[in-house]
Amino acid sequence: GVYTIGIDLGGTNMRVALIKDGTTIVRKEEQATETQKGAADAIARMISMVDAVDPERKASAIGIGSAGPLDLDNGIILKTPNLVGWEGTPIVELMRQGTGREVYLNNDANVAGLAEAVFGGGKGCKSSVFITVSTGVGGGIVVNGHLLEGAYGYGGEIGCMIVADDDRKHDSLYAGTLESLCSGSALNLQAQKVYGPGTNAAYIFEQYAQNDMAAMGIIELWLEHFSRGLASVMQVIDPEVFVIGGSVVLHNPWLLEKLPEHIQPKVYEGLRDKINLRLPELGGDAGLIGAAYLAHPDYLN
Ligand code: BGC
Ligand code: NA
Repeated sequence: GVYTIGIDLGGTNMRVALIKDGTTIVRKEEQATETQKGAADAIARMISMVDAVDPERKASAIGIGSAGPLDLDNGIILKTPNLVGWEGTPIVELMRQGTGREVYLNNDANVAGLAEAVFGGGKGCKSSVFITVSTGVGGGIVVNGHLLEGAYGYGGEIGCMIVADDDRKHDSLYAGTLESLCSGSALNLQAQKVYGPGTNAAYIFEQYAQNDMAAMGIIELWLEHFSRGLASVMQVIDPEVFVIGGSVVLHNPWLLEKLPEHIQPKVYEGLRDKINLRLPELGGDAGLIGAAYLAHPDYLN
């Protein structure tokens, strides 16, 4: 078999897996990223996780899917909303030295989108758009098997779409973006504002299940803002399928059933019965499998 290592580096968690023949997860490790401890600390732990999943050195190459923006040509993390303070980290070179393996880098949502397009919910489709709703909101656009990286690596930064007038301040993103309104972090902030310190996004969904008015209002707004983003992407890219994942959606998959009625009034009539939203077939492993695929011979050739 062909062995590769995938690393999914997010603002909250980082996961490392040894993967066989593209999709079989042989061994997997997960840790909190703890971005505030700095890049060097996290990278040292990532190197140990690589050793832990592949002690026999079956894999000679690693793919990393990281929250961005990234300098893809030089393998460097740029100024990011979710890996705060990591700006300038030459992650590819550090991981190469630390593991003695070849290292490839791309955006976390890009690689998850690639994995879903090749192996999962977008298989057989000419075009698919992957969206992750997690710590941030990211996107991965794949058309005819080709990942849209853009000229400078910012292709598919769907979380940066401006979907509302908003004068509230958000850490580093422009106000009114999809990420600042719909991400897991945005929901955490809203929970703390409405329900007090110590609460989080999950608490909003618990309250929603009990018909709490405030929670119903928050979710209704989430659906409104998210559907603006989807309607916009739908009419710019016109993909056959949207694959929507990330912890917020994976824990609350019913959100996908509510979205079409919010999208319909926002798109051309001809598209209203073409709204095709799917959960990731690879679930929460799409990012890991896609990262590993960056290092797979089929992708490299
Ligand atoms: C970043 C994206 C990333 C997304 C999900 C956003 O803040 O800009 O590059 O894909 O978070 O991690
Ligand atoms: Na992306």
